[in-house]
Amino acid sequence: MEQLKPKISLENLIKIYGNKPRTALQLFREGKSKDDILKLTNQVVSIADISLQINQGELLVIMGLSGSGKSTLVRCINRLIKPTSGHIYIDGEDVAHVNEKRMREIRLQKISMVFQQFGLFPHKTVVENVEYGLKIQGMEQVKRHKKARETLAIVGLEKWAKYLPSSLSGGMKQRVGLARALATDAEILLMDEPFAALDPLIRREMQEELLRIQQEFHKTIIFISHDIYEAFKIGDRIAVMKEGKMVQVGTPKEIMNQPANDYIRDFLQDIYYARDLLK
Ligand SMILES: Nc1ncnc2c1ncn2[C@@H]1O[C@H](COP(=O)(O)OP(=O)(O)OP(=O)(O)O)[C@@H](O)[C@H]1O
Ligand SMILES: [Mg+2]
Repeated sequence: MEQLKPKISLENLIKIYGNKPRTALQLFREGKSKDDILKLTNQVVSIADISLQINQGELLVIMGLSGSGKSTLVRCINRLIKPTSGHIYIDGEDVAHVNEKRMREIRLQKISMVFQQFGLFPHKTVVENVEYGLKIQGMEQVKRHKKARETLAIVGLEKWAKYLPSSLSGGMKQRVGLARALATDAEILLMDEPFAALDPLIRREMQEELLRIQQEFHKTIIFISHDIYEAFKIGDRIAVMKEGKMVQVGTPKEIMNQPANDYIRDFLQDIYYARDLLK
């Protein structure tokens, strides 16, 4: 395990939605709950003081019920959302507090995001979609075209370079999304339920594809999922959120063997069920 170098470090991260975050923050520090703060101030505590390290080369899966703050957490990391307080160190640099110009550079150089709904440009061809991030990085056309085609080959879509996304199936579109994220050589991939819209067999194929790519490229990946099987299959560690807090962070084995509480046990129900069936 030579990989235990922190790539991303969250320290006391808090995100409160609304126009009076300071008042809400004060109440939060006094120990009021998310519900109480919502009633009293109409502010939503979305990330409630999270500290967490994600290691270089690690694939961390974030789970949690709808509304538990998963997307907000990931979007704070590339600062699509500005945190209310706390720190987010990427390679030691606090992206919660850098200026916009520097943040754009960090996004361009270090972070790629893959979305559930693919986020492809419908009027650009597959290869143009993959080239886009490289174009923004300032790479000249011949070079970026070559790089985009190479990356399409990695995800098995080289023959589809000149087609429009509308000619592709869901799984293929998500491969384009993945290729686009890989093309820029970003070291960090943020993946917000990327496979949720795919049917089960294609989804399994994509999970395997991701693992294969990960073995080769050793990215630092934060992957949001609702699916415990997916989390167990691909996660080096799993982080489970509830109401903006981290309930448990551990390897699949640790979570399976020592679930922290009933909330975690609920997530494990399907796995227990499958295991009991096989007894
Ligand atoms: N723009 C916003 N304004 C106000 N509240 C928001 C906003 N975005 C999210 N929230 C609130 O923040 C909390 C966390 O939302 P978030 O989208 O991060 O959850 P999630 O875990 O990603 O849920 P899902 O699994 O449904 O995607 C929720 O209570 C939500 O209502
Ligand atoms: Mg979400």
